Amino acid sequence: MKKFAVFGNPIAQSLSPTIHEMFAKSCAEEINYEKIEAPLDDFETTITHFFAAPQTVGCNVTVPFKERAFGMAMHKDDAVKMAKAANTLMLNSDGELCAYNTDGIGLVADLTNNGLNLKGTTVLLLGAGGAARGVIHPLVNAGIEQLHILNRTIAKAQDIADDANNPKVEAVSQQQLAAHYDVVINSTSASLSGNLPDVPDSLLATCKLAYDMVYAKDNGATVFMAHAQKLGAGQQLDGLGMLVEQAAAAFYIWTGKQPATANVIEYLRNC
Ligand code: ATR
Repeated sequence: MKKFAVFGNPIAQSLSPTIHEMFAKSCAEEINYEKIEAPLDDFETTITHFFAAPQTVGCNVTVPFKERAFGMAMHKDDAVKMAKAANTLMLNSDGELCAYNTDGIGLVADLTNNGLNLKGTTVLLLGAGGAARGVIHPLVNAGIEQLHILNRTIAKAQDIADDANNPKVEAVSQQQLAAHYDVVINSTSASLSGNLPDVPDSLLATCKLAYDMVYAKDNGATVFMAHAQKLGAGQQLDGLGMLVEQAAAAFYIWTGKQPATANVIEYLRNC
């Protein structure tokens, strides 16, 4: 049986085992996927020990270990280098640790599933933490026309834009905002504490889609989604689809099989 796990601290809340077990069933894979709470001071040893087992194929990594997972890996693709944080690890055929960040692939897949073609669109990304970094590379690759990053601490947005090194990606102040964006994405952690990031109402009122990377509890709406809806945004989405799609991208890296996701999203939405 192929062995997988998700490492975090805390980890009890993780939906990853449920998601990957559903994927495995639909792809005829026999897997064992555990939640493992790694000690804060001993993450690296825990990972090394996990990969020493012959049945181990790969793992996911979540808060607060994504940066340390990135630091451990010998091989890093462009998306994970931009993110500076890994959510997916596996060993290559030479036994060397490879790091990936599938969060942005998950976001782009979810936007596409919901009818949005990103080609030529203008995007405003709110926030400049780890969650923002993880989605830059796939958004640019999806053919967006312009990506503006607005953050409470502008220097952090500027750091991301500098690392992206692409004329389409710019850090902006409130004064430098465009008059309209097709998509506004909230990557700040403000929703988790019931707060709204500071963004002009007019931008939420006129966007086609307001997307919150956090997912809504009990099938409701996050404060950001409710606010955007009240102002008249075309559509609002939470990050549940992104969560399932980032898992699907990890599953594909590990097994070469692309699992169906719609049924998993629907199941989680209703449970
Ligand atoms: P994550 O890894 O989830 O992105 P993080 O790295 O701590 O978490 O980043 C959190 C982001 O949310 C930051 O951009 C933060 O803004 P600052 O860089 O100015 O700290 C943003 N954020 C958190 N709470 C916020 C709030 N109430 N209003 C606006 N932005 C907020």
